[in-house]
Amino acid sequence: MAVKTARKIGPVVLLGPPGAGKGTQAKRIVEHYGIPQISTGDLLRDHVRRGTPLGLEAKSIMARGELVPDELMYGIVADRLHEPDCRNGYVLDGFPRTAAQAGWLDAFLEQEIFENSEKCPPVVIQLLVDYTQLLQRLTGRRSCPTCGRLYNVHSQPPRFDELCDLDGSKLVIRNDDRQEVISERLSAYENMTKPVAEYYRAKGRLVPANADRTPEEITAELFGVIDGHAAVHAASEMAKPE
Ligand code: AP5
Repeated sequence: MAVKTARKIGPVVLLGPPGAGKGTQAKRIVEHYGIPQISTGDLLRDHVRRGTPLGLEAKSIMARGELVPDELMYGIVADRLHEPDCRNGYVLDGFPRTAAQAGWLDAFLEQEIFENSEKCPPVVIQLLVDYTQLLQRLTGRRSCPTCGRLYNVHSQPPRFDELCDLDGSKLVIRNDDRQEVISERLSAYENMTKPVAEYYRAKGRLVPANADRTPEEITAELFGVIDGHAAVHAASEMAKPE
C-alpha cells in the first residue's frame, strides 16, 4: 500500500458524515500518493490543545458537536493550503462543511492557488454509510495520541487491548465521541453539510462511493477515482495549445 507516486493529483475532497471513514481513507491516500492530509478537525483540536484564541473559541463549540463558524475556518485553511507540501495536491478531510465554505474554497483555489500553478480542480468524493453503522463506528473509535493511527474496538481492534500496534501508546477516546454529542454532530451534518454535496452535484463534480464496505475495498475504489481524475486532467492540459 505504501507506494509514494509523488504525482500531481491536485485537491481531493472527502465528504461524509461523522464516522464515514474520511480520516481512515485520507491516511491511505496520504501514504499512497505522498500528499498531505488536511483535517480541519485535527487543526482545530491542535488549537484547542495549545490554547490559542481560536482554540479557546472553538473548544466549547466542538464539545457540543456544533460547527465552528465559517469565518473562523477560512484563515486556518488558507494558511495550511499555502504551505509548500500542498503543491502536488492534498486531501481535505472535514472541509468544506457548509455550502458557504464550498463557495469560499472554489474562489480561493481560483484566485490564490491556481493563478500561480497549474489548474487542477478538486475531485470530490462522498462517502455514503448507513446511519446505523455510524454510531457503532464512532462509539468504537480509538486513536493513538502519538502517531494518530485509528482503531475500532468492533471492526479494527489493536493487537493488545487499548495499546497502539505501532508504538505501544495507550489509545484514547475522542472527547466528542459520546452518544449525546454524536447525535448533535449528526444533525449538524444533516442540516449544514448535506448541502455541500448538493453544491458539488449541481456542478457535476460529485463522485458518490459506497463506504459500507471494508476499508480496503473503499480504498481501491478511491484510488481508481483519483487516478482517473488526474489522468483526465493531465490529458486536457496536454491538449491545450502552447
Ligand atoms: P472532525 O474531526 O472532522 O470529525 P467528523 O467529521 O465528525 O468526522 P470523524 O473524524 O468523526 O469521522 P471520520 O469520517 O473521519 O471517520 P474515521 O475515519 O475516524 O470534526 C470534529 C469537529 O470539529 C466538528 O464537530 C466541528 O465542531 C469541528 N469542525 C471540523 N471541521 C470543521 C469545518 N470545516 N467547519 C466547522 N467546524 C468544523 O472512522 C471512524 C471509525 O470507524 C474509526 O474507528 C475507524 O477505525 C472506523 N472505520 C473507518 N472505516 C471503516 C470501515 N470501512 N468499516 C468499519 N469501520 C471503519
